[in-house]
Amino acid sequence: MDCALLLLSLWALTGTASPQPSGTCPERLLGEERKRTCPRPCKVDKDCGSKRQCLCDGHCGLSCVAPGRTCPWPLPHSDKSEARLLSPTHSFSALLEVRCKPGFALSNGLDVTIRRCQGDRQWSGDEPICTEASLPEAAAVPTCPLPEEVINTFSVQGDAAVGTSIRYSCLSGADIVGSSENFCQDNQTWQNPHPICKSVYCKPPREVEQGYVVAVQKTEYEVDFDIHYLCKKNFLLDGPQKITCLTNGSWSASPPHCRARCLIPAERSRVVIGGIKRWPFDVTDAMVPHGENVTFFCKHPRKQCSFTATQTCFDGKLQTPACYLEPTWLQFKLFPHRLVSEIEACEPGDVE
Ligand SMILES: *[C@@H]1O[C@H](CO)[C@@H](O)[C@H](O)[C@H]1NC(C)=O
Ligand SMILES: *[C@@H]1O[C@H](CO)[C@@H](O)[C@H](O)[C@H]1NC(C)=O
Repeated sequence: MDCALLLLSLWALTGTASPQPSGTCPERLLGEERKRTCPRPCKVDKDCGSKRQCLCDGHCGLSCVAPGRTCPWPLPHSDKSEARLLSPTHSFSALLEVRCKPGFALSNGLDVTIRRCQGDRQWSGDEPICTEASLPEAAAVPTCPLPEEVINTFSVQGDAAVGTSIRYSCLSGADIVGSSENFCQDNQTWQNPHPICKSVYCKPPREVEQGYVVAVQKTEYEVDFDIHYLCKKNFLLDGPQKITCLTNGSWSASPPHCRARCLIPAERSRVVIGGIKRWPFDVTDAMVPHGENVTFFCKHPRKQCSFTATQTCFDGKLQTPACYLEPTWLQFKLFPHRLVSEIEACEPGDVE
């Protein structure tokens, strides 16, 4: 329908644009405004003097016009419309098409109008004003189809209207394979195929010795997959209890370690564990968990007093401090009160 109207108006405008016998040029419309902007009326060229010709000037009728006079061109840029010359020049009788951009329309509901360069060096008609099309009209703007799987996979920027572009981003945060931009063509098809989101997987994490994975073992794990860890009896979890496959294919953390207990490397001396001074054989299995501190008693090199040295159990390894001397069986049996762990502690000043 737009097209028919356009042709009709083109016919009407061109029909009046070229020099013609007075019979087909409309009579000048009388009215205040017309009088002001219309050039002098005429019947033949002779009426106009040497520099002007008697030409049909649209609604002004036959008028004295200088044919070389031009109308403003180019026109100022507009965000809402595009102007295009339909004639090779912008001089008298040239035609100008003004088309509203998608989503905008003229007050008469159409999105295009034709203007003619008049004898007064102005483009005919009122300045076309393209305004944002109201909602029902916007809904009628032709669009390109966005299939459900595209909407479910991507966040799409743009309204998919004909003549506009959209941008895709993967909802999963994954990388896009293909073009991240697409253009909706006039025939309501997309210029490019829709891209795809690269599926993201995490590789199996390193195995945890002495641990259990509370999950089905797989060759690859999808995003958001959690792996929970447990350690075998007597092993202590060192690290996260759970790791998660992130959207970039990395795990949220390194898998934990399962750390072994340590045998207390003393038998005939008391040691301090968790603030309590006790005999190793009184401790369950004579073992301490990973990370536990064990404080040993050492003898002062010259004085009859003891000082302490602490060692930490790390994954099954706990050494006595260099100063520690394991009492002999005889010392332990015959002189238990003289064992280093049982004698007086040195004064702070005694310890070098
Ligand atoms: C994956 O993302 C996490 C957190 O956003 C970041 O710490 C890690 O370095 C990333 N890994 C890679 C391989 O980009
Ligand atoms: C062991 O000692 C270290 C250093 O003094 C301390 O940081 C840690 O918390 C102690 N560990 C235990 C289980 O008490």
